[in-house]
Amino acid sequence: MGESAPIVVPFQRPSFPDLGEVERYFHLARQAHWYSNDGPCLRLLAERLEARTGSHCLPVASGMAALMVAIAAVGARRTGREALVPAFTFPAGPQALVWNGYEPVFLDIDPGHLHLSPTALEQALAERGSRVGIVLATSSFGTPPPPPVRRAWERAAAAAGVPLVVDSAAGFGAVAADGLPLGSQGDVEIVSFHATKPFAIGEGGAIFSRDRGIIDTAHRLANFSYDEDHQLSARHGLNVKLDELHAAVALAVLDGFDEGVLGPRRRAAGELLRGLGEAVAFQEGHELGTYQFVSVLCPDDRARQRVLERADGRVELRSYYQPLHETPAFAGASRHGALDATRDAGSRILSLPMHNSLSAAERDVIVDVVALG
Ligand SMILES: Cc1ncc(COP(=O)(O)O)c(C=O)c1O
Repeated sequence: MGESAPIVVPFQRPSFPDLGEVERYFHLARQAHWYSNDGPCLRLLAERLEARTGSHCLPVASGMAALMVAIAAVGARRTGREALVPAFTFPAGPQALVWNGYEPVFLDIDPGHLHLSPTALEQALAERGSRVGIVLATSSFGTPPPPPVRRAWERAAAAAGVPLVVDSAAGFGAVAADGLPLGSQGDVEIVSFHATKPFAIGEGGAIFSRDRGIIDTAHRLANFSYDEDHQLSARHGLNVKLDELHAAVALAVLDGFDEGVLGPRRRAAGELLRGLGEAVAFQEGHELGTYQFVSVLCPDDRARQRVLERADGRVELRSYYQPLHETPAFAGASRHGALDATRDAGSRILSLPMHNSLSAAERDVIVDVVALG
């Protein structure tokens, strides 16, 4: 009698929609002989995402592509070349700013909710004046910012006449505490449909805005800058369209999203967090998020190191986000303020596994590694 193999918990375990479910939609493209460029699947997907969020929507090829186009779509309003952005975020946002010709200026986060600090934003806008051309905030880990935080960002940006882009990459499907679905924040908001996101289609993303004109501009920029009459507009574009097959996958994923993805993830995360008790701290408002993974804060860096050692060979862990001003690509970037909360979160944050089908046995292993060791 052999012993049963020890459980090793992978960080992510993407689920795939049934091919029959995908074909149910893809046959619309097949019938229309339409592979890409606003075909029937893309149009149906945009409609369904709009119905769900209440905002206008353009699905695109990735979250990074969504950021590049969203920034370009709203960024032409101001001449200032500085971009205010939290240092505690995924590099795609600041990278997309650089591709658009901006210089990122890193701001601090709030130590409780871990999103861009409204106070830091107000101070930076007041002090840097017309040098600032854009603000890029993040719904950290896909968790909706508390409504007063969202409103403070929007007020500060509007008062300064600066466009506000919100990167809610992992947050598709989340609804803020005041009932506003993600997709309505700032002037323009983006999500990612990457393989590792709760709404996973391989590669993909979407741009949302309450302003139809912004989505129309994004639509042209995402298609070489051609307009509806196939005339080139005055701006340079790129090709980041979502093709029909990926749109069909997205439609199939959307059908099962609430029961098959959000529900199980939220239930599993709830159990996991109960199991962890007071061993670690949690992001304020995490329960409204989508749980791409489960972010916890260890008491200090040494405690985190001990967990990482205990996890070796048993649980795959990550430490998102690494403060970007500490990375080689952004080490020379400007900072506004001391970034104390960013530094502190960066030294204590730990990303725990989450999948649509995380089992009770897998949760026990995670709890054992993180809390009991
Ligand atoms: C916060 C954030 N923004 C942007 C992205 C980029 O999305 P994508 O991988 O779809 O390009 C990610 C992806 O991991 C992310 O976590």
